[in-house]
Amino acid sequence: MIKELLFASHNAGKIAEIKQMLAPFGINVKSALDMDLPDVEETGVTFAENSLLKSQTIAKATGIPCIADDSGLCVDALNGAPGVYSARYAPNRDFEKGMDKLLSEMAQSPNKSRAAHFSCVVSLAYPDGHYELFEGRVDGHIATKKMHGEEGFGYDPLFVPEGYDCSFAQMSHEAKNSMSHRGRAMQKFLAYLKTLQD
Ligand code: IMP
Repeated sequence: MIKELLFASHNAGKIAEIKQMLAPFGINVKSALDMDLPDVEETGVTFAENSLLKSQTIAKATGIPCIADDSGLCVDALNGAPGVYSARYAPNRDFEKGMDKLLSEMAQSPNKSRAAHFSCVVSLAYPDGHYELFEGRVDGHIATKKMHGEEGFGYDPLFVPEGYDCSFAQMSHEAKNSMSHRGRAMQKFLAYLKTLQD
């Protein structure tokens, strides 16, 4: 049974979300922010590689099991870009500019598909090197123009999940989390934690 877990993230929003999800398991969650740990450079070419780079580096350095996530937007017409480079694709991390860049590159692409998906890999690394991966994906399409709402971050205003006609930015947190790539990966992780408790 896991009693203590580190979360390899400096993102205050994600940290609060994870702490809330793990509270019923009685697990003491500390983050890279709480522990003042440095950022781990994401040099991998897949979501799994980047997620594991973060969780394994910190689990080995601290001797505490560690979870990390890596996610991004993959657009068919751009051969899966921006993918693992989703954060860096936006000029100066300005996602308004990042979304404009995406729309303009899609307009120039010979592939006229608007299909896209978000992917997320949550990894759990133990200090002895053992690890588990939990993947989540949500399919949808890229809107022809931004659809801003009350919520959302990153590429949310452009992403319309399958079966909906509004963007992720126009949905409540609860509605987005119930179908999102990160929500689905986290559900698998929570199901794994439950098996450790049984
Ligand atoms: P990371 O997993 O925190 O490294 O996020 C990678 C990047 O993917 C983020 O900076 C966002 O640009 C994008 N991204 C990941 N998940 C979402 C999402 O749920 N909505 C919008 N953008 C996202």
